[in-house]
Amino acid sequence: MSENKVTLSVIKADIGGYVGHSASHPDIIQQAQEILGQAKAKGLLVDFYVTSCGDDLELIMTHTRGNDCADIHKLAWDTFIECTRRAKELKLYGAGQDILADAFSGNVKGMGPGVAEMTFVERKSEPVVVFCGDKCAPGAWNLPLFRIFADPFNTIGLVIDPSMHDGFRFEVHDVFAGKDMILSCPEEMYDLLVLIGSPENYCIKNVYRKDGEIAATSSTQKLALIAGRYVGKDDPVMMVRCQSGFPAVGEVLEAFVFPHLVSGWMRGSHYGPLMPVAQRDATPSRFDGPPRVIALGFQLDNGWLVGPRDMFDDPGFDRARQEANELADYMRRHGPFEPHRLGLKEMEYTTLPQVLEKLLQREEKKQ
Ligand code: F6R
Ligand code: MG
Ligand code: MG
Repeated sequence: MSENKVTLSVIKADIGGYVGHSASHPDIIQQAQEILGQAKAKGLLVDFYVTSCGDDLELIMTHTRGNDCADIHKLAWDTFIECTRRAKELKLYGAGQDILADAFSGNVKGMGPGVAEMTFVERKSEPVVVFCGDKCAPGAWNLPLFRIFADPFNTIGLVIDPSMHDGFRFEVHDVFAGKDMILSCPEEMYDLLVLIGSPENYCIKNVYRKDGEIAATSSTQKLALIAGRYVGKDDPVMMVRCQSGFPAVGEVLEAFVFPHLVSGWMRGSHYGPLMPVAQRDATPSRFDGPPRVIALGFQLDNGWLVGPRDMFDDPGFDRARQEANELADYMRRHGPFEPHRLGLKEMEYTTLPQVLEKLLQREEKKQ
């Protein structure tokens, strides 16, 4: 990889919750900081920041080794294994939940953790926002990513900034077919919406400027498809480059003022509003939720992570949080009924089929 390129890797896993599925234990964060600190001292990492969103441990790392680097993935894997050991000592809930393989085999994709990585030449000034979600699925980013990069009612830069006026390209991942497709906006906006309007089936994986420059990336791994059974929601991450030819930081954050309904919440089986919160509030408790998202802003300085700024720690998002709480009340009043509970097709990867199968044995054919 060329010398002046930097890679931002965000690799995350739920390796145990404190208490239940609501948060991470401080010992786990400390353990991860120590391991990544050693990797930085050895020169494997340029810099790192460890945090949590709900019960998910988030490793935010910079280095110069490109996407899918086996050494970096092994570092993340080893960190999760070591933190799982500590989680087991503390008898944290669901210790090792997302560790779905016995041994590391070159890349953590397909082994349980979620991964988002992008490599680029750092600009004169490089603002990046890292988003981490809990109690939701990768499709949770579809609506905000569309609004950020394709909706002029959200992003005025698409209209008045000549460097953004050509629009962006969206790489969409077909979750069940395992294939990807590129759609260009604004020309193919309606086609894009055909796909991404079904976020359980299609997830926006990457967004590119028309000159090919990477603008945003997200984790699209689905645990249930890897494990073949319910193992919690995927609690995705994404990162967005901002300013000077990309949407402004404020345009990026504006997409989260609308607390849209996402699948996840209790038992990964319910629709609920995605609430933008400060890091200190990333501890879903009510009905194991409601789903939430944090936004950590960094300025890169030759790969060093200057920050983070806790971007949703702003009274400007109070109304969004209030609306999310009102929507949460409204959705909760449906109890076990759809559309609060996911449709039967989406419940396929929860524990419901076990109950349903037994029940259906009682069905009798009537003439
Ligand atoms: C959501 C989540 C939790 C659990 C719930 C039941 O992603 O992980 O809502 O599904 O707390 O957990 P168990 O089955 O472990 O008791
Ligand atoms: Mg958990
Ligand atoms: Mg989680």
